[in-house]
Formats: sequence, C-alpha cells, structure tokens
Amino acid sequence: MAAEPRRVAYDGPEFAVVPELPDDIELDVSRETLFPRPRDTRIFVVANQKGGVGKTTTSVNLAVALAQGGMRVLVIDLDPQGNASTALGIEHREGTPGSFELLNGTPLAELVQPSPEAKGLWVVPATIDLAGAEIGLVTAMARESKLLRALNAFLAAKEMDYVFIDCPPSLGLLTVNALVAANELLLPIQAEYYALEGVTQLMRTLESVQRDLNNRLRLTTVLMTMVDARTNLAADVEHEIRSYFPKQTLVATIPRSVRIAEAPSYGRSVLTYQRASVGAQAYVEAAREIALAAVTEE
Ligand SMILES: Nc1ncnc2c1ncn2[C@@H]1O[C@H](COP(=O)(O)OP(=O)(O)O)[C@@H](O)[C@H]1O
Ligand SMILES: [Mg+2]
Repeated sequence: MAAEPRRVAYDGPEFAVVPELPDDIELDVSRETLFPRPRDTRIFVVANQKGGVGKTTTSVNLAVALAQGGMRVLVIDLDPQGNASTALGIEHREGTPGSFELLNGTPLAELVQPSPEAKGLWVVPATIDLAGAEIGLVTAMARESKLLRALNAFLAAKEMDYVFIDCPPSLGLLTVNALVAANELLLPIQAEYYALEGVTQLMRTLESVQRDLNNRLRLTTVLMTMVDARTNLAADVEHEIRSYFPKQTLVATIPRSVRIAEAPSYGRSVLTYQRASVGAQAYVEAAREIALAAVTEE
C-alpha cells in the first residue's frame, strides 16, 4: 500500500479521487480536458535569479490549473527551500527522497508523489538536503545534464503533458541543470521599478546554455507577477516589460493578492484555497494562454 496522502484530496466535483501509486500516472487521456493536450511534453524551467519574484507561486499555480484542466503535470522542486513542495501538499522533511536523490541517480519514478491538489499532478519534492547538491555536482561527470538524463528516462516510460521545474534564486548548477533539461524558459517578472534589472544576466546565461548545452531551449513565456493595477507605476513597468519581450509576455498578468500569498501556509495552491479569487482566476487565464500558445504556433 502506498502511504496515505497527508491530507484529504481536493474536493472539487470532478477530481474527487487522488491516485496513490506512481505506476498509476497513465491517466485516461480520453476524458474531456479544458485545455488542448500538447503533442509532445512541454518542459518549462521557471527561472529568475532574483528571489521573491513569484517563481514558486507561478510553478505551483500553473501546474494545478493545468492538472485541473485534465493535463498530466509533473513539478520538479529544485529549490532547497522546498516551497513548491509545501504549496502542493507534499511531505519534504529532511531525508524525504526527492530532487537531491534524483540528481544522484535515483530514478524519477521512485521519487514522484501525487499531489492532493489535483488529479494528474505529480511532484518530486525538494528538501534541505538539496542545498549540498550544488557542491557535490561541481566535480561530477556531465554535471550539467544530470536532470536531463533523469527526466528523459522518466518521460520515455510515462507520458506527461507538462513539466515545471521550479528553480532556486541563483544561476548556479541547479538552475543550469533545469535550463539543460527544459525546452521552454518561463520568466516570472515582478512588476516593480528595476523589474528588468538582472534580466540581462539571465539572458546571457540562456544564450550560453543554448550555445553549449541545450539548443532546444527557448524563452517562450514571460509572466508579470504581483501587479498592482491601480498605479501609474504598474502601467509604466508593464509597458517596459512588454516592449522588451513583445512576443513572449502573456496578456494575462497576476495581480498582487492576499489570497495567493496565504495559500501556501495551508499547504495549498490558490486554485483550491480560493478558486473564485481574482488571483486564482488570473493563473487559470495564464495557463489557458500557455496551453493555447502551443497550438497556434504551428
Ligand atoms: N501575486 C501575488 N500576490 C501576493 N503575494 C504573492 C504573489 N505572488 C507571490 N507572492 C508572495 O511573494 C513571496 C515570493 O513569491 P515566490 O513565488 O516564493 O517567489 P520566488 O519563488 O521567486 O522566490 C511569497 O511569499 C509569495 O507567497
Ligand atoms: Mg521559490
């Protein structure tokens, strides 16, 4: 028997049952979905070396929104803080097997846990053990592609529609592993003055990863977070971001919202904590736009 989920499942009408076994990842693909299913797995790295810009909040809430819409979604928590694991209701005490073990060769299928937030949502948790991983990786062979190999092996056996890799606030080896494993970079930008400061450094890292390690990687998605729509400042910042990333910036923006900030303290995403809130709806809108972008691009 698999361990009981830590708390009751999301009790929305459609998704009352949470699958318990990792082997059960194959979901009924014929069931109706809210979003078009991508032809190939879309692997997003959610990165910005600045802390507190909404990387984790974005990874978590987009993942839940897409899973609630019928997608099969995997979240890999790559931040030793484990905030994404917390928000998705996943155990991540020190010693819990997770992304540290993943980078050290344990198969992903042995580490993945079902999230009680939505059916079809799976998580590789991060524990504080991961804080030492970066140092351990420095001398490892093929140190930048540990995650890529682990993920490829898993995806060869399990079909997933979306993968989100939540990065720590740095451009160290953990983030580089995520950039190498992904196809798409999702850049959350906090709507504030100097929002683009530091983005040039990330763009340089992106270019060198594209050149040397992963030529599939594209910056496809920029999401403005913590937008306070009533201010002129927000309008100026939005204009600046949209001029810098005209094609990539989503029309949907995420408002500053107390509900979004509160949800993790209940071990929840805002989508199950306060589904009707403007914050939750904004993430659903962003998820829809992301899902539709794959279809219209072709
Ligand atoms: N739209 C929002 N409105 C209000 N608070 C937010 C919003 N997005 C994120 N937060 C809060 O801001 C803090 C930083 O967000 P987080 O997603 O953890 O950023 P990062 O992962 O980039 O460090 C967290 O406390 C989070 O709950
Ligand atoms: Mg974070």
